[in-house]
Amino acid sequence: MADQPWMSSITDIGPGNIRVRGYHITDIMEHLSFAETVFLILKGELPNKAEAEMMRAILVASIDHGCSPPSVLGTRNVVSGGNSLNAAIAGGVLVIGDSHGGAIENAAKIMQSWAKKDGDTAMLADELVDYLRENKIRMPGFGHRLHNVDPRTLKLFEIAERCGFSGRHIELCKAIEKALETKTGRALPINVDGAIGAVISDMGFDYRLGKGFFIISRVPGLLAHAYEEMTREKPMRQLGNRNYAYDGPGPREIEK
Ligand SMILES: CC(C)(COP(=O)(O)OP(=O)(O)OC[C@H]1O[C@@H](n2cnc3c(N)ncnc32)[C@H](O)[C@@H]1OP(=O)(O)O)[C@@H](O)C(=O)NCCC(=O)NCCS
Repeated sequence: MADQPWMSSITDIGPGNIRVRGYHITDIMEHLSFAETVFLILKGELPNKAEAEMMRAILVASIDHGCSPPSVLGTRNVVSGGNSLNAAIAGGVLVIGDSHGGAIENAAKIMQSWAKKDGDTAMLADELVDYLRENKIRMPGFGHRLHNVDPRTLKLFEIAERCGFSGRHIELCKAIEKALETKTGRALPINVDGAIGAVISDMGFDYRLGKGFFIISRVPGLLAHAYEEMTREKPMRQLGNRNYAYDGPGPREIEK
């Protein structure tokens, strides 16, 4: 039906009028922080004090993690190749995936579906880890190359406790960490993705928003890396691991 308008409930605009979820943008500018505004646009309602505090911590947690993460190397490589800022940020965001940053989505998906089941979280975690091991699946949101205990995880859980968000998902998340260690014999700490996945689940967010929290948090970090690469490094420098050896076919000729 051609005359049916396309409906959206996010932002109403008209001449001199911009209302996000019903609130005038100038009131938001006057009264809300960026984290509170992100909560408003995603949930459709203003955060209460506890939600605002939790949201601020989530968005700060992943702002940067040095030069080694794949998304940072992505951004810096795009700059180094001689491309613009928007291409560099887009390049870094494209690198975010199930193994880096994007693990929030799958961690939250698994925890949201398992937390609904009956039974205590220790028993559910045991069952889940058995299932993952039988199917050779890594549990998203667990394990870290650098941290034995991820300080961001501890802080997020501490704030969640203080703000009243320490619910069944965080409990399940901690139980999964224990079950992984018992069953694999290897310490696989809850990483920042796993912690955010658990916290947003206890805050009532849909797991499909998961990657978004990492992207919103990491873009300022990528911007800082892109700018540093532009202003401090020479073009097309060799980034990443140079310890590279060839193991393909030996020299050969095309038969004419
Ligand atoms: C983050 C990550 C890539 C770090 O990996 P790493 O410390 O270099 O460890 P490796 O990839 O060498 O794996 C070492 C072993 O631990 C196991 N392992 C690592 N993370 C695991 C996980 N999350 N669940 C189950 N097993 C895991 C591997 O299967 C491997 O076992 P194996 O030696 O029997 O084959 C890895 O832990 C992972 O893939 N985690 C899940 C994805 C994730 O959470 N990403 C967000 C990172 S912030």
